[in-house]
Amino acid sequence: MSHSPLILDGNKLAAEIRSELREKVKQTGKSPCLAAILVGNDGGSESYVAHKMNDCAEVGFQSRLIRFPDSVSSQELLQAINNLNTDPNVDGFIVQLPLPPSISNQSVIQAIAPQKDVDGFHPENIGKLSLGLPGFVAATPWGIMELLRRYQIPLSGKHAVVVGRSNIVGSPLSVLMSRPGADATVTLTHSKTRNLKELCQQADIVVAALGIPGFLTADMVSEGAVVIDVGTTRVPDPSHPRGWRLKGDVDFESVAPKCSAITPVPGGVGPMTRIGLLMNTWRAFETK
Ligand code: GUN
Repeated sequence: MSHSPLILDGNKLAAEIRSELREKVKQTGKSPCLAAILVGNDGGSESYVAHKMNDCAEVGFQSRLIRFPDSVSSQELLQAINNLNTDPNVDGFIVQLPLPPSISNQSVIQAIAPQKDVDGFHPENIGKLSLGLPGFVAATPWGIMELLRRYQIPLSGKHAVVVGRSNIVGSPLSVLMSRPGADATVTLTHSKTRNLKELCQQADIVVAALGIPGFLTADMVSEGAVVIDVGTTRVPDPSHPRGWRLKGDVDFESVAPKCSAITPVPGGVGPMTRIGLLMNTWRAFETK
């Protein structure tokens, strides 16, 4: 049976939340400040950071962009992080990943003051997430939970299958979905999982977060499932003026007709992720 699924419109929700936030900022008469460190000129990172800076302007936040070349040393980067940690005018900051291979992601992440770690990547914030304590939750899992909440998609007692166990998306999302209050039963799957297709077929909710375009196909999804697509791979597209387009981890054309609800790419999870960062910056500002 095929039908039209509910398209979970991240752009629309994100615009609503930005206007709510803009109102709150106006009422305080003060402006939170988000800083971003960007190393090198990776196309994806450039675009993500530009979006983050634009989002700040739209809701009335200040923003600051600190750039380094690919050749930056760990020491220089750690110094810049230390400066932001102690700068009272900066409420929160991020170091855009990936970093050049010569630099240890973990040493950089662990240098960020946890109370300014609006990406929610520091071990202290990940530990708090695991324990259900208040802390910064990474933007993408937060955005997915908020999308499900605002669309009133029930999680309690449902079986959610998360495909991909990254520190940034799959792992924290599996924790959030299984927490008291959310109450899903979560299967966290990865590249070594046996019977992945059968597990996905048993899911009420499938989250594809593995970074392989078009991976989740119609035969893997049951009728009426909710499908969340976290993939954002740039694939060549000669028909597009810039020569590429974003493709998700879900084979949308074949999967959508089987779903009760599905996120598009672009315009699904991505815009909600950007809201997650704004919300964390707002919280950093409010609680400092
Ligand atoms: N690279 C891809 N996603 C992210 C993110 O959410 N934060 C940072 N800092 N880098 C990323």
